Amino acid sequence: MSNWKNDNIPWFKTAIFYEISLKAFKDGNNDGIGDFKGLIQKLDYLKELGIDCIWILPFYPSPWRDDGYDVSDFCNIHPTFGTIEDFEELVFECQKRGLKIIGDLVINHTSDQHPWFQNAITAKDSAKRDYYVWSPTNTKYKGVRIIFQDIEESNWSFEPNTQEYYWHRFYSHQPDLNFENLEVQEEMIKVVDFWLDKGLDGFRIDAVPYLFQEEGTSCESLPRTHGFIQRLRKHIDQTYGVNNKIILAEANQMPEETITYFGDGTNEFQMVFHFPLMLRLYLALAKQDASSIKNILKRTKDTPLSCQWCTFLRNHDELTLEMGSDEVREFMWNFYAPELRMRLNLGIRRRLSPLMNNDLRKIKLLNSLLFSLPGSPIIWMGDEIGMGDNIYLNDRDSVRTPMQWSNEKNAGFSNANPDQLYLPVIDDPNYGPQEINVVNQLNDNSSLLNYLKNLIKMRKQYPSLALGQIRFIDTNHKGHFVFVREYLDQQILLVHNLTELSGECRITNHNLDGDLLKQIFPLEKKYSININSEIILKLTPFLKCWYLVK
Ligand code: NOJ
Repeated sequence: MSNWKNDNIPWFKTAIFYEISLKAFKDGNNDGIGDFKGLIQKLDYLKELGIDCIWILPFYPSPWRDDGYDVSDFCNIHPTFGTIEDFEELVFECQKRGLKIIGDLVINHTSDQHPWFQNAITAKDSAKRDYYVWSPTNTKYKGVRIIFQDIEESNWSFEPNTQEYYWHRFYSHQPDLNFENLEVQEEMIKVVDFWLDKGLDGFRIDAVPYLFQEEGTSCESLPRTHGFIQRLRKHIDQTYGVNNKIILAEANQMPEETITYFGDGTNEFQMVFHFPLMLRLYLALAKQDASSIKNILKRTKDTPLSCQWCTFLRNHDELTLEMGSDEVREFMWNFYAPELRMRLNLGIRRRLSPLMNNDLRKIKLLNSLLFSLPGSPIIWMGDEIGMGDNIYLNDRDSVRTPMQWSNEKNAGFSNANPDQLYLPVIDDPNYGPQEINVVNQLNDNSSLLNYLKNLIKMRKQYPSLALGQIRFIDTNHKGHFVFVREYLDQQILLVHNLTELSGECRITNHNLDGDLLKQIFPLEKKYSININSEIILKLTPFLKCWYLVK
């Protein structure tokens, strides 16, 4: 096999990502809120786990009515998180360890406390008025979906001082920016340069589809939105070198639409999240039937060569069910969110482990799928140890509680008075720090954390898992999910049993180039199986097994 590491493959195609809420990760100055200094203390932990790139949620000044996605100053640091020097130190410490670091670019809207909006509401002819989208009525763009539908009734809100309505796709305190205004575009490009010059390796770009509006459309993914992204990408490539900095799109859409965000493969995003796949991984497991995963992957065209999907199981938001039918949503809610307070908007505000009823076999199975299906996986902080959630907290705070480092005070997150923490540590007999914490799991070979570490190690050892084509193999049971990843002359056979029953899986027509299946994962109990015209595999409940074809 060619030396794939030298094959000019952009780093993000094979990278493992990790998503961090600074607030929740580690408190470095004991004021009860996580910060840059705290994160720096934990970089070795992330490196050890096998992480290549961290994504940090918004760290800019903000009234924190949407946890930082309501930005009031794009080119500064929220004082609670530290200073610009602390940020630069973080970048330096990441670079020292070979870790990449991307930030969050909240491009679609600002906080209503942003000086632009504060100016815009002073008068209809104010300097920044045209930075936002105004209308004398609230009737334009009828039918456009409301995203935070549990809280907002309209995408328009009335501004009493100037007696007009402003447009917002999210909370009413987050007015949408007007991208028709070239000054707004230029302001955003300045923000991008500010942080890339400070050493960020790129951005996850928030709420990409909503930048422009047009009557008679869904106001999503309009051609002018792509036009602006092309302008941005061209600027980044010309200023920082092709593929030296990445942009990753948050576009919660079906694959036919998200694929367009790669542009021609060189002129829009390098990476796009795969929301529909995420939903179908849970659906398949609940139904013990892999067909929804196969169907969505069949609908997902290969990315252009220097692009990659970003795949995930959970993130800092609710598990969105928007990319499913009404029937699928009902099923998912009934199955995974039986209590009403577990639901939010069109989703479920729970973490991975409670969604699986703390059943390690299922948690590991979903992770095995995540790390063996196409795309670069991203882990939501805390899910690597199976942290729980707190559905008695508001909104998405349920999944944003302090990281559980140890069984010490405040789960080792902070030395502050427990009452001072930004949110309480999980206090639950199954999920509290006495049961679930990093220190314990590091010392336990059979822990979820060590399982993931090994999974990541294997994924990195076998390039097919990051770069290979996927081929589905027919089985005699819809819950037995078997596929091959192949890259150059390497073939890996991946076997997953989505059912709680033991069974036998007979594979004919496998087209494998070899005479032996050598188990590469799990590491313990390694078996080899001879390849004949028919391969017979014994499947235990929720089995996951990776084989190298020799
Ligand atoms: C998507 C972010 O992930 C979410 O947390 C936020 O509330 C909305 N965008 C609005 O910025």
